Amino acid sequence: MRVVSGMRPTGKLHLGHYFGVIRNWVELQNKHECFFFIADWHALTTAYKNTKELRKNVRELMIDWLALGLDPEKSTLFIQSKVPEHAELFLLLGMLTPKSWLELNPTYKDLKYNLLRLTELQRELRKRVEDRVSDIVSLLPVEIKDKERFREHILESLTETLIEAVFEGEIEPQLLKKLNVSKRDYYETDTFGFLGYPVLQSADILIYKGEAVPVGEDQLPHIELSREIARRFNRLYREIFPEPKALLTETPKIPGTDGRKMSKSYNNAVYFSDTPEEVRNKVMKMFTDPQKIRKNDPGHPERCPVFAWHKLFTKEGLEEIKSACKTGKLGCVECKRLLLENLERFLSPIREKRRELKEREKEIEELFYESSKKARAIAKETMEQVREAMNLP
Ligand code: TRP
Repeated sequence: MRVVSGMRPTGKLHLGHYFGVIRNWVELQNKHECFFFIADWHALTTAYKNTKELRKNVRELMIDWLALGLDPEKSTLFIQSKVPEHAELFLLLGMLTPKSWLELNPTYKDLKYNLLRLTELQRELRKRVEDRVSDIVSLLPVEIKDKERFREHILESLTETLIEAVFEGEIEPQLLKKLNVSKRDYYETDTFGFLGYPVLQSADILIYKGEAVPVGEDQLPHIELSREIARRFNRLYREIFPEPKALLTETPKIPGTDGRKMSKSYNNAVYFSDTPEEVRNKVMKMFTDPQKIRKNDPGHPERCPVFAWHKLFTKEGLEEIKSACKTGKLGCVECKRLLLENLERFLSPIREKRRELKEREKEIEELFYESSKKARAIAKETMEQVREAMNLP
């Protein structure tokens, strides 16, 4: 079975990435032929305005992958943009993908919704400066013609400046909360590239004739679309692509330190790049069962993020911890200390590995470039078949 998956280089990895996806990849590489790539083009579908960090993020991701156990001897680890055939297939698949399939994609619908909220924010901010601007404009000498255009122009650029300030957290973060918009929505504009995101993703998979795609749950609609695109291609021209199936992880999800989904934007993640002190602080501040207020109150482990973490990191004594919590014998501070010890047993070798790998950064980059060539050779073969099937010269 051929396995294909990718990850966007959007910054450092946290425990959620590991338990959500990477752990699965690490296991799959022992049994199957695997292609894992850094989806740098996909990162650009949202973060195209500021690409300053892109290279650094790509390098960081290489290091995190290797530190977490992806093995270049077992899997082909490469970089999407180093295999330009992905773009060619993307283009051709774009020809046969109905626009409605993309517009109905939940991620795209979310974006649309968020853009609507953004418009609301714009309207709100505009309202707040409108009177002032009108006052100022009315003070302008009568000779100035076209005051209305002038007013519109000032209003527009002032609103834009305000929005940026709001997103930078300089003013009115409450307003963002109230209107339920995030910084991300602002940078994700309504572009052709974003609409085409799942088509590019389909090209990524199909170009290797991927059969299984290990991803997080949030990716299911995208994989479904890849299947539909493959089917449509096969029907229109020739049976070239297998229909890829999504593979979800069996491992339970790890909640963030506050019990919500672990995410950079919630500020509730533990990163592999965190120092032991940072990890310690985060763990000691973790949310626990809200009904366990005093040390001796009986707790409810199933409702407690600390216990959810114990389940992943505590190999021995899990049952004891559970019952000691329930009977009020184990206080939360002590419980967190135990967790921290086990968590560090997991994290410290990874931290050490990262440090080692960082010293060989150039070499690792080279390695990814080299295996991109290997991936490219396969991609080229598929493209030959595709061109032929579509009667391209
Ligand atoms: N969209 C995926 C994500 O955000 C990344 C990705 C890009 C991908 N291309 C892919 C995943 C192809 C699987 C297969 O996680």
